[in-house]
Amino acid sequence: MTDRYAVIGNPVAHSKSPRIHTLFAQQTAQDIRYEAILAPLDGFAATVHAFIANGGRGLNVTVPFKEQAYRIATRCSPRAEAAGAVNTLRFKDKEIFGDNTDGAGLVRDLEANLQFAVAARRVLLLGAGGAARGCMLPLLGQSPARLVIANRSVDKAIQLAAEFSEGRFAHGSSLPSPRGGIEGEGRGLLPTACGYPELAGQSFDLVINATSAGFGDAALPLPPGLFAPGGLAYEMLYGKDTPFLVQARSAGMRTADGLGMLVEQAAESFALWRGVHPDTAPVLTLLR
Ligand code: ATR
Repeated sequence: MTDRYAVIGNPVAHSKSPRIHTLFAQQTAQDIRYEAILAPLDGFAATVHAFIANGGRGLNVTVPFKEQAYRIATRCSPRAEAAGAVNTLRFKDKEIFGDNTDGAGLVRDLEANLQFAVAARRVLLLGAGGAARGCMLPLLGQSPARLVIANRSVDKAIQLAAEFSEGRFAHGSSLPSPRGGIEGEGRGLLPTACGYPELAGQSFDLVINATSAGFGDAALPLPPGLFAPGGLAYEMLYGKDTPFLVQARSAGMRTADGLGMLVEQAAESFALWRGVHPDTAPVLTLLR
């Protein structure tokens, strides 16, 4: 019987996931069906359980349900624990396993597609919401020279940096997860936090925009000199030339949008479900 998968969200009609996973399945000759499911805002858990009852094997989870997906999982990966959010669910033997492949997708896009090695680089992460949190552990795992989190609301950046500096998700510490997690991935570096004004006088090799500011038209208040020559500016959104991309380009930075991250996080989910990692390059080329 054909195994069923889906992306669940609200809204979800715009999602590229059905196309991406259908291409992965064709490429790897996996017999799956992948659809998009619109869950009512107050009916996420019920929709998931109905999908499982109808033979569903796994789900990708998108806005606004990633935190709820984390809560309904009976076991989570360490990176999902660190993110406090789940973008991939796998249903097997009564278990609801939650993973978060977003940060790994970002790192893979940086390292494999963009040929940008994060190790020993000065990294600036803009934003301290769910998108930023999700990539903390995978970024720290690449051993950058520095990781600075800057956010409009400084207290949120301080809180996020603190969570990855001490306690369960601190670099080099193991993750004795309450749900049976395993070793942590981050090693050897303490992230720091600040507001945008404190960035003056600093420069970075990699600047990642994990804010949702790109949905609007206002530029982030980034000081001049922030982008180091030869560096990379990465916008997590895709499909729009955001003010951040315009700013970075005019500062001479190489730029990238989040389409590669989207395809790579999908490939990580596909691998979790099917045990085979698809070749992302042809899919990314098709989507571009
Ligand atoms: P997501 O899940 O996409 O990360 P979120 O958790 O709501 O969404 O977080 C949105 C992030 O974008 C936050 O870091 C937010 O900054 P604040 O914490 O100060 O609100 C940031 N953000 C959104 N719009 C912004 C803007 N116009 N300028 C600066 N930061 C912005």
